[in-house]
Amino acid sequence: MKLEELRDGTAVITGAGSGIGEGLAREAVNLGMNVVLADISAERLEAVAADLRADGAHVLTVPTDVTVAADVDALADAAFAEFGAVTLLANNAGLESVGFTWDIPADEWRRVIDVNLTGVFHGIRSFVPRMGADPRPSHVVNTVSVGGVAITPKMTAYAASKHGVQALTESLYLECAEQFPQIRVSVFSPGQVATRIFEDVAVRPQSGSDTEFWRENIREGMSPVAAAKIYFDGVAQEEFWILTHPDSFDRLAAKRAQVLTGKLRPDALFDGRN
Ligand SMILES: NC(=O)c1ccc[n+]([C@@H]2O[C@H](COP(=O)([O-])OP(=O)(O)OC[C@H]3O[C@@H](n4cnc5c(N)ncnc54)[C@H](O)[C@@H]3O)[C@@H](O)[C@H]2O)c1
Repeated sequence: MKLEELRDGTAVITGAGSGIGEGLAREAVNLGMNVVLADISAERLEAVAADLRADGAHVLTVPTDVTVAADVDALADAAFAEFGAVTLLANNAGLESVGFTWDIPADEWRRVIDVNLTGVFHGIRSFVPRMGADPRPSHVVNTVSVGGVAITPKMTAYAASKHGVQALTESLYLECAEQFPQIRVSVFSPGQVATRIFEDVAVRPQSGSDTEFWRENIREGMSPVAAAKIYFDGVAQEEFWILTHPDSFDRLAAKRAQVLTGKLRPDALFDGRN
């Protein structure tokens, strides 16, 4: 498939009010797609939409909490009512949480798992049967993270949720191959992308040296629009693995494979952060 074939298609993007989701929205419009933007922050959503509409894009905004199944059903209803079909479902909304596992408040643990993992499940249950009823090719891309393959202490709710999305996405790929072969399923696994993810964290204010380390680290990351260009190239090429930083992904994945196949202890290859 060529990138130009996405023109006039419709992209539904969760977490579209900021960061990678906003970058995806801008790049989708740049490619000539209609966009349905979903975010829990109606204010951020409208700011992004106003900007895109000023450039002539056809934009629908649907304030959505991806943790609420009925919200995501309403998002699908709105998208299909407005555009008749969905070419790309970008399950992208996500949250961070930093600190020792035993210090994570129970509601923060639940929120991270609910947004990062259950939110993706809600997207699949609301959209995939309708996308599957359309014989034309379409795409489901779940935003995972290098945290979906690497082990990162003091980020356990996030890592557990992202390992879950990785597993869910691989299973979904196999299920769609069996039931809806016209739906291409991909993992988008970014390395560092400069977004507000460590500002807009889960439930309690996050502070301390680990949070500061990650905030600094992210600031030096790739721009969301550059990440979005990689994303859409991967979609057009029907890649399963869409990676912003393939070298660091390979390094972390190789370590993980070594730990598993060598039955090594978690600290055997650990060099500081992951
Ligand atoms: N930035 C990175 O370096 C990086 C690296 C790996 C993976 N990711 C993943 O990329 C995705 C996007 O994150 P980002 O870095 O752009 O962060 P971001 O904080 O800039 O954007 C996330 C957006 O998700 C929205 N959101 C939060 N909870 C929501 C909910 N319940 N329902 C709907 N929307 C909700 C937020 O309002 C925000 O606009 C996440 O899944 C994140 O885990 C980011």
